[in-house]
Amino acid sequence: MRYAYRLLHPRPALVVVAKNEKTNAMALAWHMPVEESKVAIAVDRENYTYELIAKSKEFTLNVLSIDKLDLIWKVGTYSGREIDKIKEFGIELEEGVKIETPHIKGCLGYLECKVLDEIKLEEHSIFIAEIVHAWADKRYFKEVWLEKAKIAMHVGKKFFTTPSEYFKPSE
Ligand SMILES: Cc1cc2nc3c(=O)[nH]c(=O)nc-3n(C[C@H](O)[C@H](O)[C@H](O)COP(=O)(O)O)c2cc1C
Repeated sequence: MRYAYRLLHPRPALVVVAKNEKTNAMALAWHMPVEESKVAIAVDRENYTYELIAKSKEFTLNVLSIDKLDLIWKVGTYSGREIDKIKEFGIELEEGVKIETPHIKGCLGYLECKVLDEIKLEEHSIFIAEIVHAWADKRYFKEVWLEKAKIAMHVGKKFFTTPSEYFKPSE
């Protein structure tokens, strides 16, 4: 049972950026679209990111390519409570379009999200949010991610992958 959730991996290893008294970035694999204009993310309430989102009620979800894997790992293993991850890891940010929270410069795509609701589970909170602005690099996204986008996906533990081949049903 301990690894049951890993049956639902690999899944895109996103980076969530949150801003209140400080700007912070955290790796996030537990996310899902809910309706076309809404998204849900699960954040451990021990994480500094939780505190920031709970206060600001907004965040950005950033899709990165596999060549940013080291950055994804670092923001997923260090806490913004201990270090300034934006400064220490040289993360370049760009101003938000519809919200105060920035997104990561050079990402493949990002969503700007405003929190609508929070569901508290034992350790994690699920934030349900409205997508108020979205952008994707047209070289890599044409209605869907193109194979060449090589988005970073988390398999589990220290393993990551990218979508390598696309298939279509026969009908
Ligand atoms: C690939 C990957 C995916 C992760 N997914 C999540 C997630 O979905 N939810 C979560 O709360 N933590 C997740 N984590 C753990 C946080 O990123 C990690 O605890 C981070 O250090 C928290 O940083 P913070 O305290 O600055 O918010 C993930 C870590 C990695 C490496």
